[in-house]
Amino acid sequence: MLNKLLPPARVPTPISGFQQIIHGGDYNPDQWLSTVPTILEEDARLMRLAGINSSSVGIFSWTALEPSEGQFRFDWLDRVMHEQARIGNKVVLATPSGAMPAWLAEKYPEARRVDRRGHRAHYGARHNHCWSSPAYHERVADINSRLATRYKGHPALAMWHVSNELNGDCYCDLCRARWAQWLEARYHTLDKLIDAHWATFWSHQPTKWQHVEPTDWVVDGMMFDWLRFNVDQLIKWYRFEADGLKRITPEVPVTTNFMTTTYSIDYQRISREVDVVADDQYPRFDPDAPDFLRQGIFWSMKNDLYRCMKPERSFFLMESCPGAIQWQTPQKLRRPGVLKLEMFQALAAGADGTSYFQFRAGRGAHEKLHGAVVEQVIPAGDIAAAEKMALKTRRFSEVKALSAAYDKMTGVLGTSVRPEVAIVYDWESKWGQKLSAGTGVDEYRYNEVAAEQYAPFWKAGIPVDVISPDRDLSKYKLVILPQFWVITPLMALKLRKYVEDGGTLVATYDTGMADEHNRLHLGGTPGCGLHEVFGLWVEETDRLPADAARPLTATPGNELHLPHDLAGREVAAIAHLAGATALATFASDFYAYRPAVTTHLFGKGRTYFVATRLDEAGNAALYGAITSRLHLHRAIDAALPAGVTAQLRGVATGAGTEAFVFLLNFSKDQKTVPLGTRVLTDLETGQTYRDTVPLEALGARVYRIE
Ligand code: GLA
Ligand code: ZN
Repeated sequence: MLNKLLPPARVPTPISGFQQIIHGGDYNPDQWLSTVPTILEEDARLMRLAGINSSSVGIFSWTALEPSEGQFRFDWLDRVMHEQARIGNKVVLATPSGAMPAWLAEKYPEARRVDRRGHRAHYGARHNHCWSSPAYHERVADINSRLATRYKGHPALAMWHVSNELNGDCYCDLCRARWAQWLEARYHTLDKLIDAHWATFWSHQPTKWQHVEPTDWVVDGMMFDWLRFNVDQLIKWYRFEADGLKRITPEVPVTTNFMTTTYSIDYQRISREVDVVADDQYPRFDPDAPDFLRQGIFWSMKNDLYRCMKPERSFFLMESCPGAIQWQTPQKLRRPGVLKLEMFQALAAGADGTSYFQFRAGRGAHEKLHGAVVEQVIPAGDIAAAEKMALKTRRFSEVKALSAAYDKMTGVLGTSVRPEVAIVYDWESKWGQKLSAGTGVDEYRYNEVAAEQYAPFWKAGIPVDVISPDRDLSKYKLVILPQFWVITPLMALKLRKYVEDGGTLVATYDTGMADEHNRLHLGGTPGCGLHEVFGLWVEETDRLPADAARPLTATPGNELHLPHDLAGREVAAIAHLAGATALATFASDFYAYRPAVTTHLFGKGRTYFVATRLDEAGNAALYGAITSRLHLHRAIDAALPAGVTAQLRGVATGAGTEAFVFLLNFSKDQKTVPLGTRVLTDLETGQTYRDTVPLEALGARVYRIE
């Protein structure tokens, strides 16, 4: 049974050949060297003590490396690299383009970004260079090639970290010229663009490519393109830096750090460019908060999304916070145990390394209160005192304990999972739905609804892939489309074929509303012929206040045994049945008796349509019934206690099966987890369990399946 959920081989890890789970941190000793010259040796000692085995170096170090144009100082970085190599650590070496030096901003004003009002930024902050500036390209190419040439073959150099969290848009003349070219390459003629953007609206027909004004929010098809264009800008920039590095150090993997599900950046597209998928995550994991479990489920889904971006290589949690996050208000401390829970959650989903922002917090400036492995309570300049103090602090001790756990779990390296269920996560649908005035959704709604579909599987310990629409669907028993707004003819064909061939497909309201230009489909939705696949067509959609409940009536004797007291909220897609059967109907308003949950047989497969935002119990009932019907496999064949999930990683080769279960407890209560037929050995303690295993409050544990 287990073998069905496991891949036939291990995948490469982020640092090939490194036989440890990466446990690292952003490391900025250049902020310290002038006041504490012994900082490198001290940090090396503290890293060893904490079990930190990698560091991300040089992320914002341009001025330290090139204090004035053409004057270089690599001596300090030589020493960092040397120290890190000496203690056997791996270095993720950054290019410094994420923050420009003041001399550069002064001499090459074109490098500074222009905002939507046309103002060029003053010098300051970071992540603010223009994507097109020739001078910035030149200066970056120069410093990058010096770095690559100098550290080529260095034993510590394990990975390149391009810039930092590449993001944002620039409205300067150079970027606008690229935009005009981009539009021309996409549409060839202005007539085609006018048609695609529906630019006859309010007299918006351009007569030149340059007329297409990227700040003009009324033409949402245009804004859709501006988002795509900016992803292309970002990719172009990434390629420029990555290609330069690869020319000199072709053997070193290159990546850049992503920002989870950031609205404006389609990371599924960018993931195709990088050698290793790396993410920065900053969840609010507050066990006292009412949404703690919901947060846990969402971030688990996010991790599954990241595994699926590049299933052929395990991903890397590049940044996380070991303490309190200074940009989240109030700055509540991470409760004991939460750090391990968050890190194990990433590993459970297939990450082979976790890393912190940052190893040592600075004394001053904007991030001094941001949690770090070494915070200011640990002195600098006196290593004996520092070590003594470090061992007395909670944060440092938690990190150290985590390293000890990582040491015992190297067997998970390169293992993965092959779920039978996929949720399709689509940045373009997120864009299209939000950009369409009238839907009233913010940038988070898409994620919330996707996570609501994911939750029942998380609670049951059923592995889920969270995939981009271009992935192969045929290997899944169940595919779910939450708010899959954009449907193209090609995608519709793919979905149709999936169902015809025997797949089970679930879609929610707002599926198949628009084409790739965000123009609405004609003739009832889901568009592009998908209404045949679902056996219904949606006439209109009622959008209600967030707390407006819509009670439903389950059809007596419905084949999924949906309970009588179902409820939806916020949205009601008012549909006409055309072959499908209603499993539940709306119970009130002028659309009482209209279908709310339907099923339809199509080809060898089956579809379900959910016309409202089902509440938690509703989703549990729906997906619980589908799970039984499809005999979906679980990590543990028993009902898990509330707040607990079981996540699987492993490998099933000809030589045998090796599999691991992670148990994560997103609750403040101790739990007893039934094990069904599984026999589990805790990798940290070596203890073997049958029948049940105790799991402490906020517990995170990993077991080998015997
Ligand atoms: C981002 C950045 C880091 C740091 C952290 C703070 O993820 O990449 O440099 O600023 O935020 O949370
Ligand atoms: Zn620009």
